[in-house]
Amino acid sequence: MEIQRTARRAALGERVLDAGCGTGIVARTAALHVAPDGSVVGVDTDEGMIAEARRLDTAGEVTWKVGDLERLPFDDGAFDLVLIEQVLQFIPNRERALAEVRRVLASGGRVVLALLRDLEFNRSYKVLAAVLDRHAGAEVGDMMRSPFAGPGAEGIFEELTRAGFREIGIRHDVLDVRYPSPAEYLRQEAASSPLAGPLGELDDRTLQALIADLDDALAPFTDDTGVVFPMETYFVSGYR
Ligand SMILES: C[S@@+](CC[C@H](N)C(=O)[O-])C[C@H]1O[C@@H](n2cnc3c(N)ncnc32)[C@H](O)[C@@H]1O
Repeated sequence: MEIQRTARRAALGERVLDAGCGTGIVARTAALHVAPDGSVVGVDTDEGMIAEARRLDTAGEVTWKVGDLERLPFDDGAFDLVLIEQVLQFIPNRERALAEVRRVLASGGRVVLALLRDLEFNRSYKVLAAVLDRHAGAEVGDMMRSPFAGPGAEGIFEELTRAGFREIGIRHDVLDVRYPSPAEYLRQEAASSPLAGPLGELDDRTLQALIADLDDALAPFTDDTGVVFPMETYFVSGYR
């Protein structure tokens, strides 16, 4: 999975920052790679995410901190590696965030980030967003679109170059994703995103109509095992 692809770039003894760590899966995985002499810090603006990350970190291997990528609460050159998994697309001022990432990296340090390709390359999500528009409102459909509204390959290359990163590498990756049914696809998407709130407020009839519509709309992505589609992501790296 993506998490493994970013986190496994962490090497023995490195000082790693997981920026926009959410509930901390990338940071906890990276901690396994840097032990015993390295260290991992997870930072996120959302206090709830940090509280949950702390709760899940039963081994106490990671230092957790509330903080903003646009104003990182760390000294210059404090890290060898900054991991950013599905976060940059949500940041209003990426120029400022990338300058901060560069500032906290030691000389020769690197940034590794994962970013979803846009909806044209993740078409099952385009279909899902349109179904959400119809049954839950355009605001909810747009929630589903937002993770795909990143800068794209050329955009991120330019932004990293402007921020002063060098030897920038961009890999385009395709992963097959499977769910046993459209309803389960919807349930799991909701469980791992802010969609849970508005979908939880729908009455039973609306929810059933939404699922019936989704069954039809996802027919091109359905086989005898359920829903299956390619998920396309950019993996990007650059050196300070
Ligand atoms: C889609 S989640 C990804 C979480 C985690 N990286 C993962 O892959 O599981 C995006 C995360 O970015 C965080 N985030 C958004 N803007 C941020 C900012 N300016 N500074 C730090 N974290 C931010 C959100 O709170 C959220 O936890």
